[in-house]
Amino acid sequence: MALLQVSDLTQRYGSKIAVNHINLTIETGQLVAFLGPNGAGKSTTINMLTGITRPKSGTISMDGLKPSNHEYRHQIGVVFQDSVLDRDLTVKQNLMWRAGMYKNVDYDFINRLMQAFDITSIAKQKYGSLSGGQRRRVDITRALLHKPRLLFLDEPSTGLDIQTRNKIWAVLNQLRAEYQLTIILTTHYLEEANIADYVYVIDHGEIIANATVDDLKAKYAKDVLTITTGDVAKVKALVNKDWPTTAEANKVKIMVPDVNATIQFLNAAQPFIQEMELKRGDMNDIFVALTGKEIR
Ligand SMILES: Nc1ncnc2c1ncn2[C@@H]1O[C@H](COP(=O)(O)OP(=O)(O)OP(=O)(O)O)[C@@H](O)[C@H]1O
Ligand SMILES: [Mg+2]
Repeated sequence: MALLQVSDLTQRYGSKIAVNHINLTIETGQLVAFLGPNGAGKSTTINMLTGITRPKSGTISMDGLKPSNHEYRHQIGVVFQDSVLDRDLTVKQNLMWRAGMYKNVDYDFINRLMQAFDITSIAKQKYGSLSGGQRRRVDITRALLHKPRLLFLDEPSTGLDIQTRNKIWAVLNQLRAEYQLTIILTTHYLEEANIADYVYVIDHGEIIANATVDDLKAKYAKDVLTITTGDVAKVKALVNKDWPTTAEANKVKIMVPDVNATIQFLNAAQPFIQEMELKRGDMNDIFVALTGKEIR
């Protein structure tokens, strides 16, 4: 059964439609990415799903609970695009103040989170004096301390180095394995969308594609084979006529459909091949195919 069911969700600001009649189905334990360019409507969607703003229309239901319901708020955790913690309090004070808002908080779990996110050594430091990466780790700890079923991460990795990003994902993946934590994240980072179980591609407030990464790749991201040859005409003649092919100087570029067909073609063309390169289709290809522009 789906954990979160959203139908016909719409948000307007004056005459501008920021989110346009979107439907979402989020299954328990899934890692779901909202992938879209600046201004696509990702944060606006998150704000409605977390009950911060009221939608113009549409319904949101988590196991029958609405975002206005107290219980709904207790079952979600949110890491906002911009931090919400008190700069003048220490890390520990911020976390304990937050923990005080929940009933039956498991303080051992909070300690474990602080260790896992490597923030015990900065616990007495003022939040405002932390580096960007340290702050992000505290923000995520804050969002997780009541053990939510569903975690929202609005651009969790912006401005983080690769080590910090990997560290955060290692901890989150452990929690997913441990208690089926469900995660919805927004991102411009293609590799972050790549690790998702399911991706919603959002542009101009609309969902322009939704599927698993593999399905999106199969549909929109073709592998490109580049052959360097002394005989462009011969190589071109061997290419299946259904495969989009371009030639320039001594290079032939072919969009190939799958590995087996590619190997067969390479066997046939082998006597004419001087060099070859195969570029696997990636999230960027998907994005370009869907929106006509590169994301990052
Ligand atoms: N409070 C508001 N008042 C007016 N317009 C708004 C408001 N909040 C968002 N918008 C507009 O709605 C659109 C979607 O904004 P949103 O913040 O959801 O985008 P986003 O996908 O999160 O982008 P980014 O990647 O830059 O964070 C934008 O055109 C934005 O200007
Ligand atoms: Mg945003």
